[in-house]
Amino acid sequence: MNHIAIFASGNGSNAGKIIEHFRHHLHISVALIVSDQPQAYVLKRAEEAGIPWAVITREELREGNLLVDLLEAHNIDFVVLAGFMRMVPKQMVERYEQKMVNIHPALLPSYGGKGMYGDKVHKAVIAHQEKESGITIHFVNDVYDEGAIIFQARCPVYPGDTPERLAERIHALEHLHYPRVIEEVIQSVSGD
Ligand code: GRF
Repeated sequence: MNHIAIFASGNGSNAGKIIEHFRHHLHISVALIVSDQPQAYVLKRAEEAGIPWAVITREELREGNLLVDLLEAHNIDFVVLAGFMRMVPKQMVERYEQKMVNIHPALLPSYGGKGMYGDKVHKAVIAHQEKESGITIHFVNDVYDEGAIIFQARCPVYPGDTPERLAERIHALEHLHYPRVIEEVIQSVSGD
């Protein structure tokens, strides 16, 4: 069995879709939900699904070995970042090299990097009058949004779009693709 940990800071709609996708899977299970925000709705989703969860402190984020210890205590093989707003410590990047993925709500390498998150991304895409945007799923390395790209999907940006409308379109793409792409990556690294 491959055990996934999902890291999320907020609502966790992607986490919810991933939990659902793997609920009856034979080889992959969501074994832990981690958040840096004690009030995050994603923790309620974990509770409802009966999945163990943990809130990590600033100290654990700074002192990366503590976080690696937590993940190893839960036998975590693969890490999924889904709306996690903090940089993960380098010890975790090293331990889960090629075994940690992130999703970004734009077509990297455009509209990525430090400060480019949430609505800021969609506002910038609209301000630059882009005709399309999309999602990028990539491996995590120690630089913001610069790990190897695994998958991208595109959607149109319409004249008069608001960041909220574009965000909805992007979320729909994320929900459609992220669980399946995670499954494919895990199957290709584990051979299951
Ligand atoms: C997603 O749009 C993701 O691309 C970004 O954060 C958002 C998280 O949304 N990194 P949710 O918490 O899964 O609803």
